[in-house]
Amino acid sequence: MRDVLEQLDKKRAAARLGGGLNRIQAQHAKGKLTARERLDILLDPHSFEEWDMFKEHRCHDFGLDQQQIPGDGVVIGHGLIYGRKVFVFSQDFTVFGGSLSETHAEKICKVIDQAVKLGIPVIGINDSGGARIQEGVASLAGYAEVFQRNILASGVVPQISVIMGPCAGGAVYSPAITDFVFMVRDSSYMYVTGPDVVKTVTHETVSHEELGGASTHTTKSGVADLAFENDIQALLQVRRLYNFLPLSNRHPLPIIPTDQPIDQPDFSLDTLIPKNPNKPYDIKELIHKVIDGGDFFEIQAEFAKNIVVGFARMGGIPVGIIANQPMVLAGCLDIDASRKAARFVRFCDCFNIPLVTFVDVPGFMPGTAQEYNGIIKHGAKLLFAYGEATVPKITVITRKAYGGAYDVMSSKHLRGDINYAWPTAEIAVMGPKGAVEIIFRNDINDQQKITQRTEEYRQKFANPFIVAKRGFIDDVIMPHGTRRRICRALQLLQDKKLENPWKKHDNIPL
Ligand code: HXC
Repeated sequence: MRDVLEQLDKKRAAARLGGGLNRIQAQHAKGKLTARERLDILLDPHSFEEWDMFKEHRCHDFGLDQQQIPGDGVVIGHGLIYGRKVFVFSQDFTVFGGSLSETHAEKICKVIDQAVKLGIPVIGINDSGGARIQEGVASLAGYAEVFQRNILASGVVPQISVIMGPCAGGAVYSPAITDFVFMVRDSSYMYVTGPDVVKTVTHETVSHEELGGASTHTTKSGVADLAFENDIQALLQVRRLYNFLPLSNRHPLPIIPTDQPIDQPDFSLDTLIPKNPNKPYDIKELIHKVIDGGDFFEIQAEFAKNIVVGFARMGGIPVGIIANQPMVLAGCLDIDASRKAARFVRFCDCFNIPLVTFVDVPGFMPGTAQEYNGIIKHGAKLLFAYGEATVPKITVITRKAYGGAYDVMSSKHLRGDINYAWPTAEIAVMGPKGAVEIIFRNDINDQQKITQRTEEYRQKFANPFIVAKRGFIDDVIMPHGTRRRICRALQLLQDKKLENPWKKHDNIPL
């Protein structure tokens, strides 16, 4: 019996070595951790249970049958993050460059299948040279099997991808389908075709980093949500994000009671809005002051900064926050901001996370660049996302809510449950100056008249009371009491039940 146990120990030790010490050293020399070291950081200590440690590939071509490495380049299993269950897979670059074979794909599919069945999130760590070249189409089939499962799991369990090495070709589409993508600066890249192919086809010369590095995808393309300095930072932040999310679309929210009273006023908010309506202020100051412990997990912090989205807790309840940022493009809604916020709203709605929206928006961004690139369709995404969402929706208009953007930003008319405005709110079809220049076009050269009419318009419309009179907002609230009003609203709405009409699925303008 002892022999058998020793043999098992030896087999396990061999499997844990992956592609061997030299390749592990090479991985470390690139500033990267190994697949197993990454799981050690991601998961609670000693919580990892590995599956399919001894699974091997079935390829006989190009001498591959002479090279068998147990586990076949991906470590899978389950563990805990802050005591809550999670399924994981972690590609092992030391084994055939983490390339995806038929069996490697089967292992990933196994955890996704179990995750959906049991209602447990999946976190995938990607570090792979792509399709296992020796296997040909079997490996492509494997990718498609993974994609199909990512698609079916979408909206059932949260899926998080962490890119910690190469991720190229069709391989990028698995992370792209998942809910969140994290990258590591200087050691990870994602692209459909690499720099060499780009040079041949478009004659552009571009580096790996410029084409598909973390900075490109978190600032320009919006493909990735966040970038981190190294593997450790990225994994610790995945743990933080995970802590805000429910296990699945049928599990309760992870409520964490807070010591911070919900009714503590913050009088500094009474002076947050500058006297001059065209002067910016930082909406993040408001966010940090109303949430529990100032703990805000911002998503896509470097992309479309004119809108801020992220997770927080208020009175212990996890919420998704969406806020126009007057510091950037005056908080206008443009294509990128609309796409960013729409995806975030839909994620929250999938997983029953209430939406808290702070509005200060002068409208949609004008211009040919926006129109030619389809601001109409992209803006409609955000409108659609808010309108279809059935989670509790709480809105606070701090200053401007003009035009179509007023409607879009979780207004009463899109089934906003509780809509508040600060006394500084201006809710109208457009800003006073623009409105007067249109209504009194014939007097445009009479500066005195225009100024007088602008002031009249401001007095009449640029306040929250016209809208309050109609019941489109539920109350005009004191800025210092914002935390209390939102937390109470969240408590009130906890058992909200709202269903959309039956349909196979909707047809959101993509
Ligand atoms: C088999 C692979 C491999 C692959 C790497 N290796 N990629 N084996 N299939 N796709 C092996 C290498 O032979 C090497 O083995 C080890 O992994 C480490 O690779 P290196 O090249 O030494 O590492 P590095 O210099 O860091 O370069 C990493 C790399 C490069 C940039 C990823 O390996 C590379 O370009 N690989 C090929 C990428 C590729 O073209 N993949 C197919 C894409 S098409 P040894 O034994 O020497 O350690 C695709 C389609 C998917 O993926 C479609 C889905 C729908």
